[in-house]
Amino acid sequence: MKIKISSPLKMRKIGSYLAQDLAKREMAVVLSLEGDLGSGKTTFLQGFAKGLNVEEEITSPTFLIFKKYKTEGQKFFYHFDAYRVEEKDLLSLGINEIMEKKENLIAIEWGNKVKKNLPKEAIRLFFEVISDLERELIVSDKSGIISDKFFERARSSVG
Ligand SMILES: Nc1ncnc2c1ncn2[C@@H]1O[C@H](COP(=O)(O)OP(=O)(O)OP(=O)(O)O)[C@@H](O)[C@H]1O
Ligand SMILES: [Mg+2]
Repeated sequence: MKIKISSPLKMRKIGSYLAQDLAKREMAVVLSLEGDLGSGKTTFLQGFAKGLNVEEEITSPTFLIFKKYKTEGQKFFYHFDAYRVEEKDLLSLGINEIMEKKENLIAIEWGNKVKKNLPKEAIRLFFEVISDLERELIVSDKSGIISDKFFERARSSVG
């Protein structure tokens, strides 16, 4: 799916729709968010966390490498930022174990920098800046983890 998103608010909305869809999966889900600085990755994840009813505010974990949030349901939301991180640091933090637990939803900003460590079923989200307020989002879900309902919802809300 490739869509244009014309405001941060709409970006958050799409994020919350995806979270609501993925929260139902009884498996670990890994999202790799890829795209330039300021292209909307964190903004998307603020909405994603909202969709999981995470109570805390989502801030960028750049200097902490990752943050873990409890969701309203059974799931945990892990927010990683691989921008300044080396793969070996992620491994020593135990990212592989985190990516195996079925109660975890894991989002990795700059996931393309740690591609070798991503599971092959990782959902890839590509963000691109089109103009001040417009972004393009491409969702690549080769393993078919996301339901059609999300794609319908996303398309009709940004239309
Ligand atoms: N349509 C849009 N979607 C998302 N963000 C937008 C949009 N239009 C403008 N913005 C602005 O662009 C910026 C996106 O910043 P954000 O932190 O989400 O980017 P990022 O991809 O996480 O960057 P970084 O790689 O530095 O972490 C925010 O200031 C946001 O308000
Ligand atoms: Mg960010």
